[in-house]
Amino acid sequence: MDFSKKIINWYHKNHRKLPWRETKNPYYILVSEFMLQQTRVSQTIKYYLNFIKEFPSLEKLAQAKEKNVLKKWEGLGYYSRAKYLHSFAKKLKNNNISFPRKYQELIKYKGIGPYTGAAIASICFHEIIPAIDGNACRVFSRYFGIYDDITSTITKNMLQNIVSKIMDFKHPGIFNQAIMDLGSIVCTTKNPKCLSCPVNNSCFSIKNGTVGKLPVKKIKKFIRHRFFYYIFIHDRNQNICLHKRSDKDIWKGLYDFPLVESEKNLSIHEIINKVWKKFRIIISNFLIYKMKHKLTHQILSIRFFNCEILQNSNKNIFFDNFFFIPQNQIGEYPFPRPIILFLKHKKMI
Ligand code: ADE
Repeated sequence: MDFSKKIINWYHKNHRKLPWRETKNPYYILVSEFMLQQTRVSQTIKYYLNFIKEFPSLEKLAQAKEKNVLKKWEGLGYYSRAKYLHSFAKKLKNNNISFPRKYQELIKYKGIGPYTGAAIASICFHEIIPAIDGNACRVFSRYFGIYDDITSTITKNMLQNIVSKIMDFKHPGIFNQAIMDLGSIVCTTKNPKCLSCPVNNSCFSIKNGTVGKLPVKKIKKFIRHRFFYYIFIHDRNQNICLHKRSDKDIWKGLYDFPLVESEKNLSIHEIINKVWKKFRIIISNFLIYKMKHKLTHQILSIRFFNCEILQNSNKNIFFDNFFFIPQNQIGEYPFPRPIILFLKHKKMI
């Protein structure tokens, strides 16, 4: 039996039952693939179901406000995915374009890279094109004995080329999903279960003892440390000051609080000084919450300080994008995870 037959047979017996596998609707597959780009399947399921309940079609998504789209993405991270998905829907609807069916058309849109384009084109439109994500890189670099750095585009293109010759031509979508499942169930990063692998008798790495050595990944990028000092400003009527993030930075389009940032840890006196200079307000020196938050290439040390003001006059604050809301409206805004944790800690959501 050839490689792709063994893989497909294995898939029929062992595949994961996932909600987006019950449909061929390209919009639903698109949503699932956007969510899965940087997120585990287990975390994605709940978000996927909520998202398609709120936006059941491309039309409904195109009509939605960005704030509401981000609200449904809240906590999932990598928020540019939600914005690209939204802009894809708006572009198609506003220009009366039908859903692109070809890989080459799909990858013209922002947020649809070679992997997502191949997944959609193969699953929904049966195009013979391999979807090479991290799982597939691991499976194929071990199977073929490829020592090149799998984070490089050259290696990914080479793999796409090789795999396009051995994949199942009749069921390319199932083949691609079978490789995803093989990578996450059997050919795992740690403790791979080679004894249950359907292609173990022809795997280079099993024969040569290189399962633990492959894939080769270039050393991670430099990690940036950032220190965030959030000011939780509220008045006596519990109106709360929010800020819409609009800089070219993390969490663009989400909401947080007035912020002082530094590249090094600050003493309480330095924080009080900086807050005064930036916002002309005095914070209490009482820290109300702190946490560390890890992003792909950043570690954030976050502290929250309290500041009660007499009345909610926006004049206190010098910058745009700040405004006060009554506490009972807090659930309407999309926040990054650290702010959600803070608000939960305060029992405000
Ligand atoms: N990871 C990315 N796309 C996936 C899919 N369609 N099924 C399971 N895992 C995935």
